[in-house]
Amino acid sequence: MDPDEIDRIAVLGAGNMGHGIAEVAALAGYDVTMRDINEEFVQNGYEQIEWSLDKLAEKDQISRDEADGALDRVTPVVDLEEAVGDADVVIEAVPEKMDIKKEVYREVAEYAPPAAIFATNTSSLSITELSEVSDRPEQFCGMHFFNPPVRMQLVEVISGANTADETLDTIEELAESLGKTPVRVRKDSPGFIVNRILVPLMNEAAWIVDADDATVAEVDSTTKYDLGLPMGSFELADQVGIDVGYHVLEYMHQELGDAYRPCPLLAEKVEAEDLGKKTGRGFYDYEDGSVEIPT
Ligand code: 3HC
Repeated sequence: MDPDEIDRIAVLGAGNMGHGIAEVAALAGYDVTMRDINEEFVQNGYEQIEWSLDKLAEKDQISRDEADGALDRVTPVVDLEEAVGDADVVIEAVPEKMDIKKEVYREVAEYAPPAAIFATNTSSLSITELSEVSDRPEQFCGMHFFNPPVRMQLVEVISGANTADETLDTIEELAESLGKTPVRVRKDSPGFIVNRILVPLMNEAAWIVDADDATVAEVDSTTKYDLGLPMGSFELADQVGIDVGYHVLEYMHQELGDAYRPCPLLAEKVEAEDLGKKTGRGFYDYEDGSVEIPT
């Protein structure tokens, strides 16, 4: 598909990444359908977009008209056929589980136009394996955004074993038209490039605290001051979602071996549903507004 022919983008999943990607696409002028499995999820994602656009407008990073225009271009839907029926590109950002994503692709293939490209925002899973359950492995690739999508510049564009070069070119051009910097990832390996580095860093931080070698605050101060990263390891885990990091680690552990074994501290947080900012509590408590993150 010629990149100039892209008008309508369907984003599947209205969670942290899905609503952020929908927002970025709408800000760039695309018509966006944002789909989730029930009204509550999709409405919640829509409200998050509204909040973010307001914030950007308040800070004069965009005009009020741009914010209103972007919101108007997002249509929240629950019906999958309605979401993807006219789409030129489908960007999928559903939970990081192979079975869930495969189920979605089997269904989407029934409703999406034959020319539509499927781009998965998976953080780690095999693009090739996902593409094989769709009806179009050549028109299938990874398009991996970072959290929060509206602020993060990088997009990994990942080739599966059967992805056509034309698909990668189109998705790279799409990423550029969203104001992002695409980096092509040649090999479809677990975690690609960024998460292969970043998620073990979060895991190691958790192992340090698990062994009582340091506190959460001590680790985060060190990450910020000594390593110079914009957020502490635990602060970042809370931002990304502890469940997301945990599922990426589980997959890398399964595919790459013991070096990636998830720390039990992460499993405990996932089990307790203390997943970070999105649930109001993770390694820090955001509920009463008094969260103290080392600066
Ligand atoms: N929309 C609009 N505003 C937002 C926002 C959003 N989505 N998210 C945060 N903000 C606002 C905050 O509310 C805050 O507003 P306030 O000043 O009124 O309180 C403000 O932005 C925060 O901005 P700051 O000036 O304090 O911070 P910076 O602008 O310097 O940086 C950041 C914020 C860009 C998020 C920076 O901290 C950063 O780069 N953090 C690292 C993020 C990162 O590494 N992400 C990748 C994670 S890995 C991943 O996503 C992959 C996945 O597969 C696991």
